[in-house]
Amino acid sequence: MHQARYALVAGLLVLPTISLAATPTVQPPAFEPPPRSAMPAGPFGAAVKLGENIFRHTTVYAKGIVGNAQNCSNCHLDAGRLAGSSPMWAAYPAYPAYRSKNRKVNNFGMRLQGCFRFSENGKVPSLGSKMIIALEAYSYWLATGAPTGAELRGRGYPPLAAPSQPPSYAAGQVVYQANCALCHGADGQGQYVRGQTVFPPLWGAKSFNWGAGMGSVKNAAEFVHANMPFGAVGTLSVQQAWDVAQFMDSHERPQDPRFTGSVAATRARFHDNKYSMYGKVVNGHLLGSPTH
Ligand code: HEC
Ligand code: HEC
Repeated sequence: MHQARYALVAGLLVLPTISLAATPTVQPPAFEPPPRSAMPAGPFGAAVKLGENIFRHTTVYAKGIVGNAQNCSNCHLDAGRLAGSSPMWAAYPAYPAYRSKNRKVNNFGMRLQGCFRFSENGKVPSLGSKMIIALEAYSYWLATGAPTGAELRGRGYPPLAAPSQPPSYAAGQVVYQANCALCHGADGQGQYVRGQTVFPPLWGAKSFNWGAGMGSVKNAAEFVHANMPFGAVGTLSVQQAWDVAQFMDSHERPQDPRFTGSVAATRARFHDNKYSMYGKVVNGHLLGSPTH
């Protein structure tokens, strides 16, 4: 799988005009998760290992639950280890926590359920299921020695300055064609080898759904600025990151599973903020329109 990706990257890696001047924004992490070689033995170790497999190869290990072509590690890079890419070692000690998204205090398992429902456009494994326990075990193990009750540096994405110009679809399209299309496809569809995701889809039927965190232009801009282009991080300006996020999140994708039957009502209830393009008209198309 990794080899397939590197072969593909090698085959494609005539990266377009990129200036190498910008500096990376990610600070050194406050915490180092244990190396893979330290993974414990025995039944607990087996759960950790299963969790890592689910995290890296979600479409295989959670087949039948996942409803798209996204692996957890497509968005939480380096199998949930990378600081500034919403790493699991920083997330695990931060729960239970209140979330405005579902208006209740969530434990870590409930937070995982949210990523299945929206980012994976999937079914929701029950709390205490083998799937959730394995992901909890993996994240708990990654957080070995981390303090609780303190926000770890490297959690989530690094904050990104506001854009100097309002984010622009047209400018984002230019950024996309020059810096992203090579890997993610001219139409954001991603690239696959033997049915496995090598470059994840950014929009369309195989991508995350309208309810997902990456569907927020702000989250997407922060993620992209800190983590993309893969292998050339630091080459996009702040404005380019906002523009390309605006472009990416202005395309059709699977319906929000909380859809009430009306796009306007669903927007009013769940997307009433300036970072969601759901329910907006772009190029004459009402985003979020049911396709059937
Ligand atoms: C399409 C991208 C994407 C995929 C795929 C994805 N996530 Fe996420 N995940 C996000 C984003 C964006 C956030 C943070 C934004 C938010 O709060 O909604 C997040 C947040 C999280 C958090 C909370 C992090 C914290 O610090 O509080 C956990 C835990 C998590 N994801 C686990 C998973 C797991 C497990 C999977 C696979 C089953 C997964 N994610 C798949 C994008 C994704
Ligand atoms: C050299 C290939 C390459 C380039 C160029 C590239 N990406 Fe990615 N991108 C990846 C890979 C690979 C992943 C998944 C990382 C993983 O699984 O370890 C990814 C993940 C992502 C994700 C999270 C996963 C998802 O489906 O939402 C987003 C968003 C994203 N890229 C946006 C962009 C944008 C925007 C650009 C251009 C500014 C870009 N990428 C350029 C290879 C690339």
